[in-house]
Amino acid sequence: MQAEYFDGDDRTPEEIRAHYGALERLNKLTQFERPFRTWIPNLLGEATCQRLRILDLGSGNGQLGRILSDWASEQGWSWEFTNLDLCPVAARLDPGTRHVVGSVTELPFNDHAFDVVLATTMTHHLPSESEVIRHFSEAGRVAGRLVLLCDLHRNLLFQMILWCVCLGESKHFRSDAVLSIRRGWRVGEWKRLAQSAGLDDATVWLEHGTRVLLALKK
Ligand SMILES: C[S@@+](CC[C@H](N)C(=O)[O-])C[C@H]1O[C@@H](n2cnc3c(N)ncnc32)[C@H](O)[C@@H]1O
Repeated sequence: MQAEYFDGDDRTPEEIRAHYGALERLNKLTQFERPFRTWIPNLLGEATCQRLRILDLGSGNGQLGRILSDWASEQGWSWEFTNLDLCPVAARLDPGTRHVVGSVTELPFNDHAFDVVLATTMTHHLPSESEVIRHFSEAGRVAGRLVLLCDLHRNLLFQMILWCVCLGESKHFRSDAVLSIRRGWRVGEWKRLAQSAGLDDATVWLEHGTRVLLALKK
């Protein structure tokens, strides 16, 4: 449960900006938006995808929303993102979108306020299982149609690969990347936590040995 370097509250805005820049490069390389491009249309159907209000939890600099809304436009769809993150510096890096500073464990939105609630590479930042349960339950509360969460799968091979992939980045980014996987998940853990959060009908699965996904269709 060791905290990541960039979870510390004494990082400078310059350090934080550089961190999100490095994360953006890694996200592009790993095509982090792919599970969402695949599963949102797959689970909701193309007709429902025409117009969606989407909440991204722990959205960082809003990269996922930008990529997915551009991709949706290419399909002739309109996906409108609201981004929520604890970090105010992240909000300032995300000028074009509606960005809310807040915690995933206490969402400032009404029940069913969004069609889709998603998150990627965020859940492992929470410091305790009780906060993860609260995060899952809040995601379920504000989602009208679909919850789709994605995070890292905990395994040694992935840690070693990511260490090599991040060799060009700063030592803090590299050690956080490896720590993220050590703080990551196994499918059984997310199933148990989802049940504790009351998301009994959620499906949890592993993709490509690297990502754990949770979907709850309402
Ligand atoms: C590894 S970054 C991922 C950012 C983005 N999802 C991406 O993949 O580029 C994790 C993000 O979660 C945010 N975060 C951590 N704990 C949070 C909380 N309790 N509520 C909201 N955001 C949180 C951090 O500020 C950070 O921006």
